[in-house]
Amino acid sequence: PNPSLLILPGDGIGPEVMAEVRKIIDWFGANRGLKFDVSEDLVGGAAYDVHGVPLADETMAKAQEVDAVLLGAVGGPKYDDLDFSLKPERGLLRLRKEMDLFSNLRPAQCFDALADFSSLKKDVVAGLDIMIVRELTSGVYFGEPRGIFEEGNERVGINTQRYTESEIERAARSAFELAMRRNKKLCSMEKANVMESGVLWREVVTRVGKDYPEVELSHMYADNGAMQLVRAPKQFDVIVTDNLFGDILSDCAAMLTGSLGMLPSASLGAPMANGRPKALYEPVHGSAPDIAGQGKANPIACILSFAMALRYSFDQGAEADRLEAAVEKVLADGVRTADLLGEEGVTPVSTTQMGDAVVAALDAS
Ligand code: NAI
Ligand code: MG
Repeated sequence: PNPSLLILPGDGIGPEVMAEVRKIIDWFGANRGLKFDVSEDLVGGAAYDVHGVPLADETMAKAQEVDAVLLGAVGGPKYDDLDFSLKPERGLLRLRKEMDLFSNLRPAQCFDALADFSSLKKDVVAGLDIMIVRELTSGVYFGEPRGIFEEGNERVGINTQRYTESEIERAARSAFELAMRRNKKLCSMEKANVMESGVLWREVVTRVGKDYPEVELSHMYADNGAMQLVRAPKQFDVIVTDNLFGDILSDCAAMLTGSLGMLPSASLGAPMANGRPKALYEPVHGSAPDIAGQGKANPIACILSFAMALRYSFDQGAEADRLEAAVEKVLADGVRTADLLGEEGVTPVSTTQMGDAVVAALDAS
């Protein structure tokens, strides 16, 4: 059977950027013999409008069965006043939780044509290609006890940074596997100098590293890591870190490379029967209500998320390279959606025109 893909376009610009990805998927089917069993369903506000919940049980069940899920974005002002449990974001959180997606991959890749967009000097970021692996299901965002409690005559807000060995081990293993597919270089970041969870993190990562003798492993305190990311990001290849540090470090790394409209992500879980991990791919950006429905959205983040799916769920690394090269070519040719403008005298293209340009570049590849 063909590999299966569940598409959840969601809200706002989600369906607009996903329509462009559909063209790319069709192109690979028609030209590279890569056929997918594609099904499409609702998530977020779009699901609430039809089912009264942000993710229907049948959709959740489908997500558990397919080889990969590709999601657009969820949310919008229309749903701001909904009860917390019905908010569009809960649909996405339910997917992540029930699929147990513990490893969040956030690439920070600088396309040469966009190097001027970085908040850093061009030579610091030109050619940058790093990957941050963030543990996604544990740590201080989930640890108990948590809450706001009375203590004496005032209140105290409490969160608990908590990691079990097995939680650290599975995140570390997914980072080492990734390092093996890339340049065999991994830097683990924590604060073992002041945090017990950091001491355990370093110990477990070091132990897992014994199974990957080819990978050059280093450790860095996360605060120094933040500094090094901005000072000399090209010293890194794969970085693995916990949920909280990963949240901050990946946002920081993202801005090394320019627009939100360019950033893909993958969230991976445990291996399925076929040996590939459970996986959800999505752009980093949200539903962008300010530009939704105007044909202005940049589809590249979502297109590059599909490239990650080709690489990590469908074992099609060469085809992923082909798609990324097509994006690179389009950018080098000066094709720009409005979010990528800067230069004088460039007229922005629409979402559809950007998708068509990528397809044309694929045709020429
Ligand atoms: P956002 O990412 O939707 O937008 C931030 C800014 O970036 C806006 O000015 C937007 O126009 C621009 N932008 C985002 N993606 C773009 C693209 N592909 N092309 C061109 N410009 C783009 O974040 P915001 O405004 O904080 O949130 C809007 C809604 O999205 C909220 O309901 C929020 O909860 C939701 N959201 C959903 C996420 C998801 O589905 N994973 C992630 C972040 C926010
Ligand atoms: Mg964040």
